[in-house]
Amino acid sequence: MWELIESPRVAPSVLSADFSRLGSQVAEVMAAGARVIHVDVMDGHFVPPITIGPLIAGAIADQVHEAGGAIDVHMMIAAPERQIAEFARAGADSITFHQEATPHAHRTLGAIRELGCLAGIAINPGTPAEAVAELRDLADVVLCMSVNPGWGGQSFIESSPAKIERLRPLVGEAKIEVDGGVDTATAGFVAAAGASLFVAGSAIFGAADPAQAYAEITSAAGAS
Ligand code: DX5
Ligand code: ZN
Repeated sequence: MWELIESPRVAPSVLSADFSRLGSQVAEVMAAGARVIHVDVMDGHFVPPITIGPLIAGAIADQVHEAGGAIDVHMMIAAPERQIAEFARAGADSITFHQEATPHAHRTLGAIRELGCLAGIAINPGTPAEAVAELRDLADVVLCMSVNPGWGGQSFIESSPAKIERLRPLVGEAKIEVDGGVDTATAGFVAAAGASLFVAGSAIFGAADPAQAYAEITSAAGAS
């Protein structure tokens, strides 16, 4: 997956897709050029909702891989270290968990890499950028939440670009992923601040034409 994120990319989040036709929604954005498909896993503990588990990630994994894409799993769950092997088996190419969800972030990042996936660490809006400083050599991706995790369709937190700027010198070679409220109006700001992986859910799957929305956000982010 690393080659897919070497240059800036928009990652459609299927959280806002129509689950009764998930395969065709994924096909639609991949035909428009999307290659990183973002899968939001929530457990009803770390965040209130319960969403997708390894069964659903696995159900789209072959389709995504056959089209040259990758599955980007974002775990918003307590004790994420207990679930990483299951997601790797289901076909995840990258696995990101929250720094706030475990005292064992360092060990968990190493375990994800050992499973052959890219390893990502996410931080909530209330968590300082410095919280990931000691993890820089173990993380391939640092995900900066630009909304509080739990729901699609929330408003972008305006201070997020400044936080991404503070993250940039702390993360070494890791890519900065931004998630929440990314659309044509906000993508340019987070790109200028140093993010290169842009998650967009409602702005893509809530649009009348998801393929066109993907193309517009990609262009606003200066992504490919
Ligand atoms: C929120 C999820 C996001 C969500 C983003 O907790 O992590 O990935 O799908 O949705 P939008 O783009 O609608 O803010
Ligand atoms: Zn997400």
